[in-house]
Amino acid sequence: MCGIFAYIGTKEAIPFLLEGLKKLEYRGYDSAGVATLDNGRIFSSKHAGKIVELETELQKRPIGGKIGIGHTRWATHGRPSDENSHPHCDCKGELAVVHNGIIENYLQIRRDLAEEGHHFASTTDTEVLAHLIEKFLKKRGTSLEEAIRSTLKIIEGSYAIAVIAQKEPNKIIAARKGSPLIIGLKEGEFFVSSDIPAMLKYTSQIIYLNDLEIATITGYDVKVQSLKGDKIKKESVLISWDPESAEKGGYSHFMLKEIHEQPKAIRDTIAGRVKIESSFIHFDELNFTEEEARKINRIVFTACGTSWHAGLVGEYLMEQYVKIPTEVEYAAEFRYRHPIVDENTLVIAISQSGETADTVGAIWEAKAQGAKVISICNVVGSTIARESHGVIYTYAGPEIGVASTKAFTTQLTIIYLFALYLAKKRKSIPISEVKKMIGDLIEIPDKMERILLKEKEIEKIAKKYYKSNNALFLGRGKGFPVALEGALKLKEISYVHAEGYPAAEMKHGPIALIDKNMPVIVLALQGRRYEKVLGNIEEVKARGGMVISIVSEGDKDATEKADDIIAVPSTTEALSSILSVIPLQLFAYYIAVKRGCHVDQPRNLAKSVTVE
Ligand code: AGP
Repeated sequence: MCGIFAYIGTKEAIPFLLEGLKKLEYRGYDSAGVATLDNGRIFSSKHAGKIVELETELQKRPIGGKIGIGHTRWATHGRPSDENSHPHCDCKGELAVVHNGIIENYLQIRRDLAEEGHHFASTTDTEVLAHLIEKFLKKRGTSLEEAIRSTLKIIEGSYAIAVIAQKEPNKIIAARKGSPLIIGLKEGEFFVSSDIPAMLKYTSQIIYLNDLEIATITGYDVKVQSLKGDKIKKESVLISWDPESAEKGGYSHFMLKEIHEQPKAIRDTIAGRVKIESSFIHFDELNFTEEEARKINRIVFTACGTSWHAGLVGEYLMEQYVKIPTEVEYAAEFRYRHPIVDENTLVIAISQSGETADTVGAIWEAKAQGAKVISICNVVGSTIARESHGVIYTYAGPEIGVASTKAFTTQLTIIYLFALYLAKKRKSIPISEVKKMIGDLIEIPDKMERILLKEKEIEKIAKKYYKSNNALFLGRGKGFPVALEGALKLKEISYVHAEGYPAAEMKHGPIALIDKNMPVIVLALQGRRYEKVLGNIEEVKARGGMVISIVSEGDKDATEKADDIIAVPSTTEALSSILSVIPLQLFAYYIAVKRGCHVDQPRNLAKSVTVE
């Protein structure tokens, strides 16, 4: 996700900005830029690509000044390009803004400002901030703080921003809502950053900004106010983290950090795309007409690994709610087996990285056969996004751990929303049901947070079973893809041989594996198949197997039969996969840690498989 670094002090700003942005590189980005105030004038340099390219540019065309803001961008709205890189300026280039977050109402604001004569240099949501501040600053006697406060009151969505302006060339204004921002304190020097790693080289004394707070940072002090203008007293804290643990936000591994980021990733992925009261569902980059939606007579999901498991959940959702025949294909199989698809087939490619070679190949094959191809991707402007006729981005932010976690649950979120989008266009379910299902989805992040509070309980269970060299995951319906995903998580980070199976398949072979050394993890949430799953649990117990059940809160029957249980908040069957996978992610994580495995970079694995 994006990174902010800003400096104000007695030395040249650029070296601090570049060093600080480099410390934020691990967060993932596709472009970088800086702006400084030098003798009261704004200078900036920004480019798609890596910081090293920005450095080269600055060596050719240096910019001076002891006040500056810098940014590394992870594209969400607007592809990676020089123009879309931050900082963004107003019409006259007299102020510069860097921003992390998503401005949900930027399109309407952009239209209104354009009508007032503002011209835009980018396709980003962020640029509207610069022009709004410009607009408010024009009002006689308005201070930079007041103009920014007025701007932020209009903004819907999340932001962390740093602003410099020629009108008041001796300060940096920083503010946040829903995206972290901290201020580093040092004698005569102040730093602003998205998170701690970028600060630690200079200071460990920091102030955390809270949501809806705005800071005015000069070369000698920091003043914090609320958006209403009330003064807020802030205490600084001393950070004791070492740089490496700081990059993981204090978590031991990126994977654990990303498991905990899932509620925010879901909120960001939903943000600006739905409205319950109007059953509004919108995807910016879909390029998909109603007529095309009605023409579809078959859907094919194609992907690899965890993304393929997301497609399996999609199969259930599409057939149940959109009522179109749907299948799921491994990309490597689909691309080489002469699939029968045509202009009435919708092929949906799913990929976190957007660079998986087999999935790219599957898209080419589908397009060659005349199919409409859309993709669900986490990387804006990636190959798969560009090769598709339309794309829906997950806003999970960069996923650094090799094992996919937040990418998976945001994929499920998009698939669920897209199923409702198609169902609405094809009138396959009543609008009232669409509205209810949107409401059900909006409740998910809070329910995820309740599961994450059980982390220690799950760690304790993992410690009971970490010596097992085999494991079986069972589920029915949408629990089956989750069983597969839980097995993949365990095998790829702890090297335990784990298999996922439809629970009903037990008696067709796997039951021969059951003994006291085989932990069997069973998805036993309340639902249409619950009673059947109870029977499967009994089959395992009757053969001396150990059962760990994932159950709905308040469950009694499955709980009685299991050796260990992990309860998750109740939700609808359509959303159950998004919640029931969380305990399995943590279960796999703690077994891998206990077995001393390299959780973030497991042996033999790459984060993106860009070769066949
Ligand atoms: C999942 O934890 C693995 N990292 C792997 O199976 C991954 O899902 C697969 O390689 C597909 O990657 P993609 O989503 O980037 O296309």
